[in-house]
Amino acid sequence: MKHTESHIGHSSLSRRGFFKAGPALGTAVSAQTSLVYAAAPQQQQSGSPLISQRRTLGAGNSAMEVSALGFGCMGMNYHRGIHPPKEAMVKLIRQAVERGVTLFDTAETYGPFVNEELAGEGLAPVRKQVMISTKFGFNHEGGRANGLNSRPEQIRRVAEASLKRLRIDVIDLFYQHRFDPNVPIEDVAGTVKDLIQEGKVRRFGLCEVGAGTIRRAHAVQPVTAIQSEYHLMWREPEETVLPVCEELHIGFVPYSPVNRGFLGGTLNEHTRFDSGNDNRDRLPRFTPQAMRANLAIVEALNRFGRPRGATSAQVAMAWLLARKPFIVPIPGTTKLAHLEENLRTADFAFTAAEMRELESAVSMIKIVGDRYPAEEQRRISR
Ligand SMILES: NC(=O)c1ccc[n+]([C@@H]2O[C@H](COP(=O)([O-])OP(=O)(O)OC[C@H]3O[C@@H](n4cnc5c(N)ncnc54)[C@H](OP(=O)(O)O)[C@@H]3O)[C@@H](O)[C@H]2O)c1
Repeated sequence: MKHTESHIGHSSLSRRGFFKAGPALGTAVSAQTSLVYAAAPQQQQSGSPLISQRRTLGAGNSAMEVSALGFGCMGMNYHRGIHPPKEAMVKLIRQAVERGVTLFDTAETYGPFVNEELAGEGLAPVRKQVMISTKFGFNHEGGRANGLNSRPEQIRRVAEASLKRLRIDVIDLFYQHRFDPNVPIEDVAGTVKDLIQEGKVRRFGLCEVGAGTIRRAHAVQPVTAIQSEYHLMWREPEETVLPVCEELHIGFVPYSPVNRGFLGGTLNEHTRFDSGNDNRDRLPRFTPQAMRANLAIVEALNRFGRPRGATSAQVAMAWLLARKPFIVPIPGTTKLAHLEENLRTADFAFTAAEMRELESAVSMIKIVGDRYPAEEQRRISR
């Protein structure tokens, strides 16, 4: 059975319309001088979802209306240390839907495979209420990723396998996970375009690509969203990627919006990561020395957030939401308390003056450690 857009109450709200509607529909920079709870009274009524604000990724036939904050499923059973039992994570996915989340992100390579299976099981009974994004782009061998592969036949193979694991008959948003230097981006876009025409995929996305690649891909098949790391400790997308997204009306989905937990304030130099099961173990920004130095950023977020009733994670994500109205962060968590805390981020609206205050406090702090090891960063180089 094919599902249609109408099941999530798709509206034709344009980006211009969004601005006119203002904070009632999404967090935005307000002209007033104090932080406001944009939708707090509504959300305290029983039965109403925790997050009701919606944002639109992409434009025209490629548009997708989703909750202002999505949910990243990856860390529920991959890359984030000790994982809770599957039943608990299935329940948490459904609790996210009950609380108003309509965008869920996964990828073939998370696990590999098991994260898509988890998302598929969690979302099966609520499929009609949500959008599911997944990703292609790697070979897998012996239970792990083994090299880039975005050749057309591989994209097709992944699409078929992902549909089965996710228990769906169409992928709402299909991203290339990493740029493949051996396959022209036009061929990648052309293959996804064919899959869209065949009804197996609805929309096209790209991860961690540069502006030139975005333009070339978009000329073949309109891109709905770019997914890249973006938060107060990694602002590179501001240089060329966000401007091109704005120009071409492409959405932007910041991944790791609380910097893999760091901006939530629960990690410090004494935290030990489960090697083999947690990629933070090999990320330069998560060495004890780097974390000791970088805690100054968490302290700055807390100094800003405490008098306003916001946690450091909420300040980090409210900053993202206030950057552009076409930004939809996808935080991940294994805890209901963190899920609810994260969704309440959408209740905050920063004033322009508050934004400047936060940015100037953070910009004075020197960030220690690269975000990725050199080899991994090279794979991302555009
Ligand atoms: N396209 C790509 O290349 C790419 C790469 C990485 C990730 N992603 C996507 O982005 C999603 C999110 O990324 P991520 O998991 O790397 O990073 P994240 O969302 O920035 O951080 C997740 C971590 O933060 C903790 N956390 C969440 N909310 C918190 C809060 N309010 N206070 C304190 N700690 C909190 C979680 O631990 P608890 O479980 O204890 O809450 C978890 O360990 C992934 O699920 C995936 O879908 C995409």
